[in-house]
Amino acid sequence: MPPNPPAVQTHAAPGAGIPAGGTTPSADATATPRPSDPATTATWTPESWKSRRVDQAIDYPDAAELDQAVARLAALPPLVTSGEIERLKRLIADAQEGRRFFLQAGDCAETLDDCRSESITNKLKILLQMSMVIVQGLKVPVVRVGRFAGQYAKPRSCPTEARVVDGREVILPSYFGDLVNHASFDEKSRRPDPELLVKAYQHAAITLNFIRSLVDGGFADVHHPEYWDLSFFSHASLSPARRAEYERMRALLSDGLRFMEALGERSVGDLARMEFFTSHEGLNLHWEAAQTRRVPRRAGWYNLTAHMPWIGERTRALDGAHIEYFRGIENPLGIKIGPSARPHELLALLDRLNPRNQAGKIALVTRMGADRIVECLPPLVETVTRAGRRVLWVCDPMHGNGIKTAAGIKTRSFDAILHELEACHDVHRAAGSVLGGVHFELTGEDVTECVGGAAGVTEQHLTQRYSTLCDPRLNYQQSLELAFLLARKMGKEQEPR
Ligand code: PEP
Ligand code: CO
Repeated sequence: MPPNPPAVQTHAAPGAGIPAGGTTPSADATATPRPSDPATTATWTPESWKSRRVDQAIDYPDAAELDQAVARLAALPPLVTSGEIERLKRLIADAQEGRRFFLQAGDCAETLDDCRSESITNKLKILLQMSMVIVQGLKVPVVRVGRFAGQYAKPRSCPTEARVVDGREVILPSYFGDLVNHASFDEKSRRPDPELLVKAYQHAAITLNFIRSLVDGGFADVHHPEYWDLSFFSHASLSPARRAEYERMRALLSDGLRFMEALGERSVGDLARMEFFTSHEGLNLHWEAAQTRRVPRRAGWYNLTAHMPWIGERTRALDGAHIEYFRGIENPLGIKIGPSARPHELLALLDRLNPRNQAGKIALVTRMGADRIVECLPPLVETVTRAGRRVLWVCDPMHGNGIKTAAGIKTRSFDAILHELEACHDVHRAAGSVLGGVHFELTGEDVTECVGGAAGVTEQHLTQRYSTLCDPRLNYQQSLELAFLLARKMGKEQEPR
């Protein structure tokens, strides 16, 4: 988000005739929708999704409790502003043309317990350092979008989970993330609790408040060498050739940073005022709809819980509730695209979600898996390109590469992640399209959840510092190394063929 949030806007509550937060009827009337707004062309409202099939539906046991929580949520001030959202759309439009690079990353699932200063600071630090490496390699500015300040809901492959407790099988609702229920395996914890909608929103607000303060208050120190941990450079598993290459890139990077400092206060200040935007999977539509509002002097409806929500692989059915909801909002949208997606389905989704073919509106986040990408991605790229659809192609090399060790631990291999990333870049290059961004699950902490990388995490290490409640994340060193490898691959290949 921009460091100094624009002047406070007032917002009308969703679907309500009574203006909220001091919005006068005349101010609201200035938000005249364009005739072509999807929200006005048919029967869209922030609630119209309720008449569709809801994939990954949460079975709240008490409807009245849910209504009360949603009403409280709707009355709270928004987390982000429409001005910030429109700015992100412009930056994404640039990335679609290859003039910027889009970096989206953060936890698989944020937890309420994780709302701590060091965990948030470490996440910003790794995002910032990765983006500096990428800027150095690709020579374009980076748009930073965190999977944070709202990434609390998780889709599950099965709505229930069975475990043997005291010799008998117990079946309970799956853990759907801290927005919905608790991870502990007992009846009370797993009961979907509407109160968590409000609690998670408050934690998102606290997280975002701290991020805005850090961005405002000179977080740029992070570019000084003492804030970088490059100890993986000296790990025995790194080949001498690769170490020399990393060293060369590091030297270029610190030269670049020194040069920027030498330019004087203003440039360092600019470095300090780095923008971060927020994103999360828009899974729980009660949460999303409660903060979907019209804003004065702008057309259309905005989801003000995050700058850029995304639609998950399991909830992108054309006739489902999620697509119905997302077609009506103005925010830029991510759409996860897995190996089952067919070209005609993708076009139908684009027609529904971006009928005006607006630049900066859609990021297609492909997550095919290292062994499927070369087969699955080219037909999609060709079809979208041939149809002249404006999209940002983003590679998520995480979600198609989950594996389980012999001991049953969920992990991902650094090599498979790198392989998908490189193959994705090659596919786009061959098709004449642009890989404009990447999407990672990572943390700024020293966890051991993914195997591989120069720091040498092996299967034996996985039990040491494995704290994710969902998918395994890259740790600080693996993330930074991946940024070096990405910059090396894409930077090199930007040179004329
Ligand atoms: C995720 O991003 O955490 C996720 C569940 O992704 P996907 O919808 O691509 O499986
Ligand atoms: Co995940």
